[in-house]
Amino acid sequence: MVSLVANGCTDDPPTQSTPTVSAQATSPRPTTPSTTPKPVRLPDDAPSLSDVIPAPATTRAADDDNFALTNQTAISAPGDAEAAGEYLADVLRPATGFPLPVVSESDRADTIRLVLRDDGDPQDESYRLEVARDGVTLSAANPSGLFNGVHTLRQLLPADIERGKTVDREWALAGGVIEDEPRFGYRGAMLDVARHFFGVDVVKRYIDRLAQYKINYLHLHLADDQGWRVEIDGWPRLTEVGARNEVGGGKGGFYTKQQYREIVAYAQSRGVTIVPEIDMPGHTNAALTSYAKLNCDGTAPPPYTDTKVGFSSLCIDKKVTYDFARDVITQVAEMTPGPYLHIGGDEANSTKEADYRTFFDKVLPMVVDAGKRPIGWHEFAKANVPRSGVVQYWRIEAKDGPTQRAADGGRRVLMSPANKTYLDMKYEESNPWGNSWAGAVDVRTAYEWDPTQALAGVGDGEVLGVEAPLWTELVTKEDEIERMTFPRMQAIAEVGWSNSTEWADFRTRLSGQAERMTAQDIAFHRSPDVPWP
Ligand code: ACM
Repeated sequence: MVSLVANGCTDDPPTQSTPTVSAQATSPRPTTPSTTPKPVRLPDDAPSLSDVIPAPATTRAADDDNFALTNQTAISAPGDAEAAGEYLADVLRPATGFPLPVVSESDRADTIRLVLRDDGDPQDESYRLEVARDGVTLSAANPSGLFNGVHTLRQLLPADIERGKTVDREWALAGGVIEDEPRFGYRGAMLDVARHFFGVDVVKRYIDRLAQYKINYLHLHLADDQGWRVEIDGWPRLTEVGARNEVGGGKGGFYTKQQYREIVAYAQSRGVTIVPEIDMPGHTNAALTSYAKLNCDGTAPPPYTDTKVGFSSLCIDKKVTYDFARDVITQVAEMTPGPYLHIGGDEANSTKEADYRTFFDKVLPMVVDAGKRPIGWHEFAKANVPRSGVVQYWRIEAKDGPTQRAADGGRRVLMSPANKTYLDMKYEESNPWGNSWAGAVDVRTAYEWDPTQALAGVGDGEVLGVEAPLWTELVTKEDEIERMTFPRMQAIAEVGWSNSTEWADFRTRLSGQAERMTAQDIAFHRSPDVPWP
């Protein structure tokens, strides 16, 4: 990190255009009296402050205060602001071709300043973005708030900013102030890498695509009947045997520990936290086929590549089951800096109810001992979920007794009702892609619902946030991931972030995202309910 202080006037180019510029290294240069920069013309295709998705809490336009992004612009991001500053530079450099040095200090007018306020409440994700002729200032209480402001700033530039190659043109941001904060602290997506495996690069691109809409958690469904997807020391057959399959009989795959850590770090560098899921005690055929000793009868079942659910269970009465669970939970927790570890718990139709409770009585304390808050699919609300636990509701009914009781007892609920958030559902009944058990989920359906009204007894104080899961029984390739995700994800992102619920306004703003998604090569679905250009 370098400083860019008093090394010249605003219209005098720095001697070097890379982050090696430093006040100490340059010889004294004449300074000119500071002048107010001239008004900046806004390009016709520059968005306005109110075009952003998810909709900001408040915007105040200042038409004569646009900011020109130029070859001279620097990003100042001292201390803990540096990661968000580097991310902003990474986003802006390819299309602008500008050097955009990330510096610790700059007194130049053409600077984008990232500022951390001293009051630093770690839960406070709010930010304030002020765009003015003489500089842009993004301030927040902590780095999460800065990342949120960076995502907004990105959308204030023309869609060309999303192109991977230099576009020779003028770049400017509309002047004004945005003050913004999320409705919910958890705004998530889930990718099932167990039914079909997706490699590190696909997951990284997915993280990039989600992050720009202020999705701050990516839940990875790492183990199911068809495949085990992460290396665990002491249990080599999980990856030698259990990972070598997927739905339809493909070759599967897994993340080494190093690759998993790489995904976690990449997500962090975009303001996204990974939530790993190891589904237990059902959805475990891949583990059971890897180790005969995990089966009650000591016989390993064959690998499974079809799509039925509810037929597998870990052996509740065997000590080895808990040795296995502890090793997996401890090692996955150790590789995961985020606060949550998802323990599954859904559709354990081959585990007796009493056994299910016995299993979680032993296993949930392991998650807590590993320093994590357990998340489980809502069936696990039947067990003794600790107060730190989170119940993820996924069914379509508007009432669930165990979830309601868990919420009454102080647990938070993560809302993923399948008829609103499941990205594996068809967009339209007539559409060939996707499942249909929860009905079609078009963009309007994904948008027009309130997470605090969707489930009896689970209101404002109980809802942690929203998550949109993508199950991949039918999804085999990256463009299919994109098509099932976008543009429903923007709807879920706005449900999680904003208080606004005006469909007519949202669909207009969403149509404005088409060019941005195209520039990013996102194979989005051109939903008929959106007036695409
Ligand atoms: C689920 O859809 N089985 C959580």
